Amino acid sequence: MQQQTIIEPFRIKSVEPLGVTTAEERMQKLESAGWNVFGLHADDVLIDLLTDSGTGAMSAAQWAALMIGDESYAGSRSFFRLEQTVRALTHCRHVIPTHQGRAAEHILFSLTAQRGRPGQRLVVPSNSFFDTTRANCEWAGIEALDLVPAEARDHGSRIAFKGDIDLAALECCLRERGDDVPFVLMTLTNNRIGGQPVSMANLRAVRALCDRYGKPLWLDAARFAENAWLVREREAGQGDRSPREIASEAFALCDGFVMSAKKDGLVHIGGLLACNDDAIAEQARTQLILTEGFPTYGGLAGRDLEALAVGLGEVLEPDYLRYRIASVRYLHDKLDRLGVPLVQPHGGHAVFVDAAALYPHLDPAALPGVALCNALYVEGGVRAVEIGTLMFGRAGTDGAADEVAGEELVRLALPRRTYTQSHVDYVAEVFAAVFARRGEATGFRIVEQRPVLRAFTARLAPLDERWRSLSQRSR
Ligand code: F0G
Repeated sequence: MQQQTIIEPFRIKSVEPLGVTTAEERMQKLESAGWNVFGLHADDVLIDLLTDSGTGAMSAAQWAALMIGDESYAGSRSFFRLEQTVRALTHCRHVIPTHQGRAAEHILFSLTAQRGRPGQRLVVPSNSFFDTTRANCEWAGIEALDLVPAEARDHGSRIAFKGDIDLAALECCLRERGDDVPFVLMTLTNNRIGGQPVSMANLRAVRALCDRYGKPLWLDAARFAENAWLVREREAGQGDRSPREIASEAFALCDGFVMSAKKDGLVHIGGLLACNDDAIAEQARTQLILTEGFPTYGGLAGRDLEALAVGLGEVLEPDYLRYRIASVRYLHDKLDRLGVPLVQPHGGHAVFVDAAALYPHLDPAALPGVALCNALYVEGGVRAVEIGTLMFGRAGTDGAADEVAGEELVRLALPRRTYTQSHVDYVAEVFAAVFARRGEATGFRIVEQRPVLRAFTARLAPLDERWRSLSQRSR
């Protein structure tokens, strides 16, 4: 038999009820939350696609591993198990656990700044920085330089590897500012522009450039396994390799990596910093003790280290990855068929909608991404996240106009092993209802905001008081 349907390669042993509400209740809850989905109680959300970070389901083997976690302060058996797993996969000798990705980033960038000369203006070139990575880099006084190829910025273009770095721009940076470049950072996959993969050809070319200019290469490996699968599916000559072989090669090309284990570690909390440089590892461990914990547990409990060791194995199983990427593609294709403008092609962990193209009558200051998130929530209890002017714009100072972001995207991130195909069918139905009324959508304005990371706490208001009735007309 030719198998047509890619099924979930697991069965369900433990279930959690979903919060069912009516549209009228959701309208009230959203209003109390200041029209910002970050302010909602999660119990009032039916399908939560806010993030794929720490929201996946652990396997029975991971839950069982928790029980054998060794909580010794120093020399925990669980640490050595994790160390062995990470070394076997990545070839990095020094394995340093942190409580999540941003703690590893903080350590890496602050010790990089300490290693620079006084007054030196350091710059780290990258295919793209995720927002906490950028924030930690800039906080350490280092410039974070995104080198996204021009063609990858066109959301509609179907280039297979939009996560690749612009090699010519990287070479130019290394030639002209080489002295100030402590290392090059590649993010697998690129979360800023669609969860798009980096090709092995690009990664090898980056390695060659780093060798030519004598620079280390670091990875932000949060979604290393999804990257490996997309390479296998899309890159010529990679289709016969296992995801473990591809991922291992990617790690072998780098000198070190930081990782949020909340994604492809398949755990609820955790992070890693790993490298082969003895001096960097020594300094990182010194800093780790100050803010995270003793080097054999970092910021984690022994049981978390066990669950991560198991997760790093499960995430590379071909059946899991085939299903994982198929479930993202399934939602992507359904919305594509409706005619929803999407970041093309699909990425590894989420579907990205171009809200500016969906609502061409709303300018960026009217927050089209927020309008879409709010419509999805009221229509069907689906929570998505805006990646646009609310997240990346800035309030104007001294009477200047507010700054808008370059793009108005909405991300529907799929937590790992959490929702079934019928949940995804339902999300597409909700989307179809919202899409049918796209011409009538009205925007939002910010009424309260903080100077830093405003998206999380801002309070908003509908620009048109008829928002309530407009968004409920179809009911
Ligand atoms: N790097 C990437 C590429 C990420 O996507 C994230 C987190 C981090 C680093 C930071 O890791 O959360 O463990 O401290 N991304 C989440 C998201 C929050 O929703 O995309 P963390």
